[in-house]
Amino acid sequence: MALLLSMLTLAASSYAQTFAQQCQNFQVNIPNVKVNVLEFVPNGTNITFPYTDPTCAPLYQLTYGGDVCRVAMNVTTSNASNIFLEAWLPSQWSGRFLSTGNGGLAGCIGYSAIAYANSYGFAAVGANNGHNGTSGRPFLNSPEVVEDFAYRSVHTGVIVGKQLTQQFYASSINHSYYLGCSTGGRQGMKMAQDFPGDFDGIVAGAPAFDFNHLTDWSGWLSSVAGYDNTSSDFITAGLWSVINNEILRQCDTLDGAKDNIIEDPDLCRPYLESLICSPSATNTSACLNQGQYNRAVKSLEPLYNSSGTLIYPRLQPGGQAAAYPFFFNGRPFIYTSDYYKYAVYNNASWDATTLSQADFTYLDNLDPYKISTWNGNLSPFASRGGKILTYHGLQDPLITSDNSARYYSHLSSTMSLPPNSIDDFYRYFRISGMGHCSGGPGSWDIGQGYVGRPKGVSSPQNNVLEAIVAWIEKGEAPEYVEGIKWVNDTASAGVVSFKRRHCRYPRRNVYTGTGDGKDEEGWKCVL
Ligand SMILES: *[C@@H]1O[C@H](CO)[C@@H](O)[C@H](O)[C@H]1NC(C)=O
Ligand SMILES: *[C@@H]1O[C@H](CO)[C@@H](O)[C@H](O)[C@H]1NC(C)=O
Ligand SMILES: *[C@@H]1O[C@H](CO)[C@@H](O)[C@H](O)[C@H]1NC(C)=O
Ligand SMILES: *[C@@H]1O[C@H](CO)[C@@H](O)[C@H](O)[C@H]1NC(C)=O
Ligand SMILES: *[C@@H]1O[C@H](CO)[C@@H](O)[C@H](O)[C@H]1NC(C)=O
Ligand SMILES: *[C@@H]1O[C@H](CO)[C@@H](O)[C@H](O)[C@H]1NC(C)=O
Ligand SMILES: *[C@@H]1O[C@H](CO)[C@@H](O)[C@H](O)[C@H]1NC(C)=O
Ligand SMILES: *[C@@H]1O[C@H](CO)[C@@H](O)[C@H](O)[C@H]1NC(C)=O
Ligand SMILES: *[C@@H]1O[C@H](CO)[C@@H](O)[C@H](O)[C@H]1NC(C)=O
Ligand SMILES: *[C@@H]1O[C@H](CO)[C@@H](O)[C@H](O)[C@H]1NC(C)=O
Ligand SMILES: *[C@@H]1O[C@H](CO)[C@@H](O)[C@H](O)[C@H]1NC(C)=O
Repeated sequence: MALLLSMLTLAASSYAQTFAQQCQNFQVNIPNVKVNVLEFVPNGTNITFPYTDPTCAPLYQLTYGGDVCRVAMNVTTSNASNIFLEAWLPSQWSGRFLSTGNGGLAGCIGYSAIAYANSYGFAAVGANNGHNGTSGRPFLNSPEVVEDFAYRSVHTGVIVGKQLTQQFYASSINHSYYLGCSTGGRQGMKMAQDFPGDFDGIVAGAPAFDFNHLTDWSGWLSSVAGYDNTSSDFITAGLWSVINNEILRQCDTLDGAKDNIIEDPDLCRPYLESLICSPSATNTSACLNQGQYNRAVKSLEPLYNSSGTLIYPRLQPGGQAAAYPFFFNGRPFIYTSDYYKYAVYNNASWDATTLSQADFTYLDNLDPYKISTWNGNLSPFASRGGKILTYHGLQDPLITSDNSARYYSHLSSTMSLPPNSIDDFYRYFRISGMGHCSGGPGSWDIGQGYVGRPKGVSSPQNNVLEAIVAWIEKGEAPEYVEGIKWVNDTASAGVVSFKRRHCRYPRRNVYTGTGDGKDEEGWKCVL
């Protein structure tokens, strides 16, 4: 027994040396690639990134997917731009490749997603989107950096990452995947639209697609709230909560359960007259004066252009309170301001409070490097067998989930396909009670990689990454996505508050069970 154990230990240590040596001896020889870091990283290492822009905090990542070979590199993307790319290659490789995305306007590598993918044996890459830090300032007079942001950073990372992976393992890649949310969701959609060969399977959460119009809408919402927080018609954060509660009062139970979660915002047409202060009101922190009422009503409308064409749909009801720090706090939304200043007008003094229809039209015509990401024809991707699993939180305060439903219709009409055929390659899941990519009162942990789940919990039914793999490799298309609500949102403790199956759009969830909606079997997806 002792002998056997020592032989196993010897085998394990010689394996580890082999992998560590294989890593250290790895000769990267790819055009335009300059390796900055090449290191063997044992499982459980807390990697720190001392040279990364501090706005990209946290500047560390714990590995938990086994030993990895870490390659960090500069990749030249033009004579005036480069991306910073990381590839983490696990010792226990599954034969799969995965690219991660970014968030906001940021040039921050998604290290947590890379580590998450490693834990499933993916060789995973992430890039900095062509610039470092969360600000849009690096776009100023730097069209090549904007081009990296629009599509080239992810696409270049895929080309280099695939070569690197194949060289390192001396084997071809069996399947290629993508995982991202928000700007990361847009990047995934962009690759499906313009580079259909990059991925077999794409998980795209809360996509920031129709990007220019999203930016217009965000800026417009700030103007609806107004830029003077001392004005009598300014709606305070507390009043937005009052408004949100009133919306829930009107719409929460339309799905059959009183749980502070709206399953189908499409059924919710809130009226706010009930909140107007009566002449005898004594507590004006709980009601709206006429000016506040007008602003609140406007904030629930879609944005139309001056000819009456829809630019971008409404913020779905239920996201109002959480939107305060982004849109309603009396200041222009930072991404709208940065994007117009640095990527559109190259004018650092441009004033976002002046945003108007003329700006929308200018941006429509410019559409830098086709960043709009609104091509409704996914035939090239679909005909290669590509699949997209997309999801959107129904309390998203930053990117309205109504826009994901709008793309579904756009896809259907552009490709002249009914939902049953769309669903052969594109499935959209509405995640009730989820905010922007994660968080919220609903069962929002769907394996998108934000929480460390206990071992043995995940399956293709409750984990979007496993679901896309099962769809591509076994032909098992996801019928629903089961989400988990952890007690205190602490997955590591392993105590489930409730689970709920989120329906495949356009189905909606209705409750016929008893109590507060926690009975998973009480929910049914209906058309
Ligand atoms: C990893 O290192 C960072 C920076 O030193 C530290 O703040 C963080 O707590 C560490 N994380 C873990 C899990 O050890
Ligand atoms: C971004 O940061 C990385 C280190 O984290 C550095 O190697 C790279 O040169 C930086 N890129 C730019 C454009 O400053
Ligand atoms: C890596 O370490 C984590 C704990 O940090 C552990 O759960 C996991 O099983 C380890 N993976 C391998 C492949 O050893
Ligand atoms: C990475 O590229 C940037 C921009 O070209 C350059 O400033 C930086 O020195 C490079 N870093 C390394 C380690 O080569
Ligand atoms: C970069 O290349 C473009 C053509 O692709 C050229 O117009 C431009 O002058 C070049 N810039 C520099 C700094 O070499
Ligand atoms: C790639 O797929 C083939 C065929 O299914 C399988 O035999 C092989 O083990 C896979 N490669 C890896 C590295 O898992
Ligand atoms: C109002 O706006 C100013 C300037 O942005 C800020 O300093 C102040 O904290 C705000 N007040 C409230 C109540 O939000
Ligand atoms: C006024 O209404 C607000 C919001 O509902 C509430 O938090 C506060 O306690 C109320 N104040 C009084 C004096 O009733
Ligand atoms: C409104 O949008 C429609 C459709 O894109 C466009 O044809 C029209 O010119 C726009 N109107 C203005 C004033 O930009
Ligand atoms: C930059 O924006 C400011 C503020 O809107 C404006 O006054 C100025 O004319 C703009 N500069 C240029 C060069 O367009
Ligand atoms: C949740 O938080 C409460 C209050 O802090 C605590 O008493 C309870 O033990 C926590 N439960 C779990 C499973 O984390």
